[in-house]
Amino acid sequence: MPPMKVLGIESSCDETGVALFDTERGLLGHAVHTQVAMHEAYGGVVPELASRDHIRRLIPLLERVLAEAECTRHDIDAVAYTAGPGLAGALLVGASFAESLALALGIPALPVHHLEGHVLSPLLAADAPMYPFIALLVSGGHTQLMYVTRVGDYRLLGESLDDAAGEAFDKTAKLLGLGYPGGPALAKLAESGKPGRYKLPRPMINSGDLSFSFSGLKTAVLTAARAKELTEADKADLAAEFQEAVTEVLAAKAVTACRQRRLSSLVVAGGVGANRRLRQRLDSAMAKIGGRVFYPELELCTDNGAMIAFAGSQRLLQGEVPPSTQGAFVVRPRWPLDQIV
Ligand code: KG4
Ligand code: ZN
Repeated sequence: MPPMKVLGIESSCDETGVALFDTERGLLGHAVHTQVAMHEAYGGVVPELASRDHIRRLIPLLERVLAEAECTRHDIDAVAYTAGPGLAGALLVGASFAESLALALGIPALPVHHLEGHVLSPLLAADAPMYPFIALLVSGGHTQLMYVTRVGDYRLLGESLDDAAGEAFDKTAKLLGLGYPGGPALAKLAESGKPGRYKLPRPMINSGDLSFSFSGLKTAVLTAARAKELTEADKADLAAEFQEAVTEVLAAKAVTACRQRRLSSLVVAGGVGANRRLRQRLDSAMAKIGGRVFYPELELCTDNGAMIAFAGSQRLLQGEVPPSTQGAFVVRPRWPLDQIV
């Protein structure tokens, strides 16, 4: 197959991402605009504001990426876009942009699953894993362990029964009076705290399966916060213990999944994959079983267009023919990854 340049469009939540990936030369350009500052005042993502902002950002981002790649829009061979899961309005902005651009240029448009983008993002790194591998997907909306044999084959081994790991970080951060987005803020506070002074549970660590549950942790933090007025030092200690609890459970179950499938490669993707304590724990736990962990480049841990362009390109390389929608398309705000075809 001749080399292709695939444009990637991401707009599922609060980041607008655009990137151009060349199947021969790699990533030619990528740009992300984050809406964090805009949503900060509300303490979380406001869907309507997110959609409107994606509209404002897409064309300038596309122009920036094309300039960086030293290409024009006529060099693009296909447009891949996030079709779900995510916020319906935000997804529709990226989907209509991608579908109309593709229609105008007479090239295919390819709907991509957002989590497939995350799962494959470590393959964009110079030192990429080989199939098959176990993927630990830890984002704001998902905590899943997956068995991945090739592009398009994702078997769910276990997932969170309630809050996702990122969601638990965000909600606990809110309880401790930290701003949005809570995950990075809580992780930073945890660095100055001592784990162990407060004792939090390690939910489902001995459940014998690969399911997770994180909502009880948030409640335990709330109980501690109600018991007395927390000092700054108390908050840091609670944050540290919370981070220990979440990362211990994630690492234990990820290693169990690798052992069960007799695999030595673990891929970690999604926003929580940026957490340093989680990385330490996973690295040492995998080293103990003779395996290793593969991460995306740090800037590709959170939402971006590069992972969508890459996932789309891998599907095209596999010979997948994009649906001929003639400009008609759907988005799927809810879309389990193991139901991908
Ligand atoms: O993958 P992502 O950018 O968006 C989703 O698709 O959800 O993940 C965002 C999540 C948020 O919950 C955020 O708080 C969390 O990742 N996060 C972190 C860290 N950086 C981002 N959680 C813990 N530690 C971090 N360093
Ligand atoms: Zn994401």
